[in-house]
Amino acid sequence: MKILVTGGAGFIGSHTVVELLQSGYEVVVVDNLSIGKREAVDAACKIAGKEAEFIHLDLTDEQATISIIGKIKPDAVIHFAAYKSVPESLSEPLTYYRNNMISGINILQAMYKSSCKTMIFSSSATVYGENPNIPFDEDTPLNPVSPYGRTKSHYEAVLHDFCIAHKDFTAIALRYFNPVGAHESGFLGEDPLGVPGNLLPYVTQVAIGRREKVFVYGNDYDTPDGTGIRDYLHVTDLALGHLAALDWATDNQGFEVFNLGRGEGASVLQILRSVEKACGRKLPYEIVSRRPGDVPASVCKAEKAATVLGWKAKMNIDKICQDAWNWQKINPEGFNPHYAVDGLPSTLTAQNGFKEK
Ligand SMILES: NC(=O)c1ccc[n+]([C@@H]2O[C@H](COP(=O)([O-])OP(=O)(O)OC[C@H]3O[C@@H](n4cnc5c(N)ncnc54)[C@H](O)[C@@H]3O)[C@@H](O)[C@H]2O)c1
Repeated sequence: MKILVTGGAGFIGSHTVVELLQSGYEVVVVDNLSIGKREAVDAACKIAGKEAEFIHLDLTDEQATISIIGKIKPDAVIHFAAYKSVPESLSEPLTYYRNNMISGINILQAMYKSSCKTMIFSSSATVYGENPNIPFDEDTPLNPVSPYGRTKSHYEAVLHDFCIAHKDFTAIALRYFNPVGAHESGFLGEDPLGVPGNLLPYVTQVAIGRREKVFVYGNDYDTPDGTGIRDYLHVTDLALGHLAALDWATDNQGFEVFNLGRGEGASVLQILRSVEKACGRKLPYEIVSRRPGDVPASVCKAEKAATVLGWKAKMNIDKICQDAWNWQKINPEGFNPHYAVDGLPSTLTAQNGFKEK
């Protein structure tokens, strides 16, 4: 079965490529490398010991998208490609609507023309926005508070409408909570451009000495330790959720939505302590005022994915932080073949066919 992975050079896409290849799928990655890196796809292939085809494509280019999908003829598409920064979307809404919506419409049109009838879409917990009904189940009313969040809820609506018009089409929107961690090999992980917008890569960059201290935005929330709570999920668990969705799609049509999270929250201070445990030292931090737009807690109900897809996140916070630290330690500056190869234990380099450069 041939799977087209859009945005497969990014964080979640590349980890999903590993799991797809290891499960015997044929994989084609398309990415415009605006954020993602070619090295991530290479690392995914090396870890899996298999090849994936890579095609440089900007999905906002309608004709190129139709032509390339027409040639690839995938059996299913996993659509990760998007911009994902909430603050950036607030200052550049048109960039976000243009990239995320137009890419999404182009890929759907290209799929239709080449008779590809299954899409798994990266939606986000951000579609629930400011909402008192924690933990969120899939029926919680949507209330996104940023242009980024609205690109996700609007595109879910596009998929819903498309499935009504085309009864043989399957579209699954996976609402991810907080994907973090790294592949346990230490060879693939999150490599944000510039200052990390997410907590865990920021903390591991402090741990490696690239940043001075962790800023904790508010310790006066109505939570056990006063800091914000999120539903952190290991990126490999998340990747496996896509394989479960692909399986389910083989026997089901129409539009469906699933939360993917652990169904358990961890606070900012718990994450900090867990990274300290992983790296073996205390990390400097400073409590500063709350950030506008941050909600006190965001945690999902994960029962629907467990019951319907048979998927459940397996890895706990300590394993997530251990793997995130391991990746940061081996790759202090992010993707860098020199560090990655030199830093890997020799057993692992041998096992995965890495060669010293
Ligand atoms: N990481 C998170 O915290 C999180 C949470 C919820 C949902 N998501 C969603 O999951 C998906 C993947 O997230 P990620 O963390 O891997 O992000 P990422 O930025 O690491 O990966 C996205 C990839 O898409 C590519 N891309 C963007 N626009 C493109 C275009 N027009 N044409 C071709 N390629 C394009 C980028 O180069 C990048 O490689 C995104 O849709 C994101 O919105 C992420």
